[in-house]
Amino acid sequence: MPLPREFAEPLERRARELSPLGSRVIWHAETRSTNADAVALAERGVAEGAIVLADSQTAGRGRLGRSWSSPAGAGIYASVLLRPDRQVTGLLSLAAGVAVADAIESATGLAPVLKWPNDVYLGGSNAQLGRKVAGILTEGGISGEEGWAVVGFGINVLPASLPAPVSARATSLEGELGRSIDRGELLAACLAGLAARYAQLRQGRHVRVIESWRRRASATFGRLVEWNETGSMQRGLVHGIDEQGGLLVSTPGGIARICSGELRWT
Ligand code: BTN
Repeated sequence: MPLPREFAEPLERRARELSPLGSRVIWHAETRSTNADAVALAERGVAEGAIVLADSQTAGRGRLGRSWSSPAGAGIYASVLLRPDRQVTGLLSLAAGVAVADAIESATGLAPVLKWPNDVYLGGSNAQLGRKVAGILTEGGISGEEGWAVVGFGINVLPASLPAPVSARATSLEGELGRSIDRGELLAACLAGLAARYAQLRQGRHVRVIESWRRRASATFGRLVEWNETGSMQRGLVHGIDEQGGLLVSTPGGIARICSGELRWT
């Protein structure tokens, strides 16, 4: 299906900034999950840079086995296939979070906050973090000799993108701004940012990504988090992230490092 002009024009205009992303762009008016589609491409040996976009998803996937609400025309649903070296893979998700947050700021003037590992929040204050506007799901695997990663991102653009039960915890760009925004320009900015961050990682400039992530997440530092570790609840104050992207939390017993899993933010 041809890519609608809303997306084709900004992607063409910024084509040089997108490389190696955009070697192939696949558009679906409706699909189950752009991540699932991109994973299938990875397993078929398709080259790095393929992008899968959809106007709606019927089985959008979120982190930790959750679903991602994806009604038609209400959000950005995109997945990018990469074939990174092993030392790049671990920081791809954080890099994508920075790219999406930066793109939202440049398109809207709003100042998103990143909540580890890469939830994008808006409208926070000292008392609370605000509400989630975008999320990133990175999936990886190996086919043949080569590793692949699919970086998927979903951005709530219209209030219609939010299912009622989560709307107290989620928000949308147009809901926050009170005006319409251009989905194509925002998508192109996200992809250009992701391409730039991917280049930094491949050049060994991981520290640039980590520092940008820390700046975007500083409002979350000092917040109380709880997590389950082999059956017992642990608590501590968010301290930052280390050079591998692990979350560092100050606890009475010292600094704990969290690599994955469910955190409860209080
Ligand atoms: C999260 O739980 O915060 C991650 C949400 C990721 C959603 C996006 S939408 C495009 C891509 N396709 C999917 O099925 N999921 C990701």
